[in-house]
Amino acid sequence: MEKKRIVTGDRPTGRLHIGHYFGSLKNRVEMQNTGEYDPYILVADVQALTDNFNNPEKVRKNVREVVMDYLSVGIDPEKTTIYIQSMLPEVAELTVFYSNLVTIARLERNPTVKTEIAQKRELFGESVTYGFLGYPVSQAADITALEGKIVPVGEDQLPLIEQCREIVRKFNSIYGEVLVEPEAVLSKEKRIKGLDGNEKMGKSLGNAIYLSDSEEEVNKKVMSAVTDPNRIKKDDLGNPDICMVSYYHNLFTDKDEYKTVCEECRAGKRGCVACKKQLAKNINKTLEPIREKRKYYEERPELVDEILIKGTEKARETAKETMKKVKKAMKLDYFE
Ligand code: TRP
Repeated sequence: MEKKRIVTGDRPTGRLHIGHYFGSLKNRVEMQNTGEYDPYILVADVQALTDNFNNPEKVRKNVREVVMDYLSVGIDPEKTTIYIQSMLPEVAELTVFYSNLVTIARLERNPTVKTEIAQKRELFGESVTYGFLGYPVSQAADITALEGKIVPVGEDQLPLIEQCREIVRKFNSIYGEVLVEPEAVLSKEKRIKGLDGNEKMGKSLGNAIYLSDSEEEVNKKVMSAVTDPNRIKKDDLGNPDICMVSYYHNLFTDKDEYKTVCEECRAGKRGCVACKKQLAKNINKTLEPIREKRKYYEERPELVDEILIKGTEKARETAKETMKKVKKAMKLDYFE
């Protein structure tokens, strides 16, 4: 049976954190290891520039950081093709072709884009750039250039996949059945909250634990996690339901141990400091093998480059095939 093509990606704007781990990376590794798929992961440097055009250094630096994060959690370059978005010129070309098939009003209505624009007032002021407004078109090009069938996403990315599907249908209805219509598959994992209880873990919020954080950094960050505010003394009865330490115990601590954590907290038999130390230990236990693997690649940058060059070459082969079909369908195949 033919393996189903998966396309996913991340904007390289910072190292990846445990929110990415639970939200998408774990799922990507699991899907990769079933052997039922043909997964591609793109490092979306062009997309990262849509809201970081004034900071190319940051994007460049984080391309390799993100790739090392992938490799350290078990993305296996023998099974998953990792490539750099900007190194597929076909994607840029497709973006131009697709831009005729989507209206400005439709882009402005995209809920994800809308939310992001609201968050980026500082960058964009009153008016947003053409590139940022149009990034869903470029993302449609990412997916279709590789004939992606499945796009595993978090809830926030659903409108982007829907927009991609609309572009595909419009293209196929005008120029003929050429493009593959992808399907979004919601990852089971929920978005995880920040150390401060914020709904989102993120770099700009300063509430994230990175996969590459050292043991000391993890210890320090866990100590700052928000606990039940009503609990002042150790024997005050606690409520683990409103405590971020308990929230993370649920993710990193085994079931029985977690049950004890909650019981002791409710009974006022557990101090927050000891509870945090126990959590930090468990997080470090999970991160230790990831750190070790990362170190291996940090010491071998030429290996990381080789993986990217090979992955990019392979992705480009498919993108070229797609481009041939697209140009033929659009009557742009002049000298063929
Ligand atoms: N928009 C995605 C994000 O911010 C990144 C991305 C770019 C992507 N191209 C993609 C995801 C193609 C899936 C498929 O996380």
